[in-house]
Amino acid sequence: MQLLNQVMISGNLLERFRNAERLLALTGAGISAESGVPTFRGGGDTAVWKGMPFDVVSSAQMVNRDLPAVWEWFDYRRQLLNALKPNAAHLELASWQSRFRNFNLVTQNIDGLHQLAGSRDVIELHGSIWSARCTTCHSRQQINREGERADACLDCGDPVRPDVVLFGEMLPAGAFETAAEAARSCELCFVIGTSALVYPAAALPEIARDSGAFVCEVNPEITPLSNLCHEVLTGKAGEVLPLISAAAKV
Ligand code: APR
Repeated sequence: MQLLNQVMISGNLLERFRNAERLLALTGAGISAESGVPTFRGGGDTAVWKGMPFDVVSSAQMVNRDLPAVWEWFDYRRQLLNALKPNAAHLELASWQSRFRNFNLVTQNIDGLHQLAGSRDVIELHGSIWSARCTTCHSRQQINREGERADACLDCGDPVRPDVVLFGEMLPAGAFETAAEAARSCELCFVIGTSALVYPAAALPEIARDSGAFVCEVNPEITPLSNLCHEVLTGKAGEVLPLISAAAKV
């Protein structure tokens, strides 16, 4: 066991990190907390929007009932995000992409900070706030950093909606299947900054564990997943992840 900055990291984990070829990282809102993105269940003032709990304004029903109100919420969040930068945790994971022969980064986040940090081929389970989708033909259009977006589909002219998974909706086709395949084939799985309450994303560490992988959680708090993990690193992702790489280099 090595005590680094109050974080206990086992020799077993460091050995596996040094020798692993197939690694999966699953991230949640907590990895973006140090960049200033409020988490969903960590309190903060954005869990409620204009008197509506976030899971009401971020719901499929709301798209049908009041699409402009949904856009107002996502336009506000995108504006917030625009000023924020990736933190040390995002940058560390981006560096892991070239370190491991088979590295998969699966995120529940829609903030695009992994890509801004340089990560490629990020599996976005819940979509992206930087994309809009037609409510009829489903064609997508990118929303630029200035936040400019068309209200209507560029192909069929019908209204567009945020290209994110809203409450009551299924994940984008293929995203979970690709993530589950990565979980089944990985040797080492890191679960970073998620409360592990939302499925099917929260099932991925279980799939990895049941397929023989070593599962490590990084979170300042205990979650329902902690007991299932082989190792729990209690701390902030931006502090813990660089420690792992630094210790593994020894
Ligand atoms: N580093 C690591 N973890 C952190 C940090 C940090 N600096 N700060 C907070 N956390 C942890 C919290 O302890 C909590 O366990 O991050 C977790 C954030 O949990 P949630 O807010 O529930 O976010 P997440 O798990 O990503 O939510 C899943 O729910 O609301 C939906 O679609 C939304 O993708 C989201 C999904």
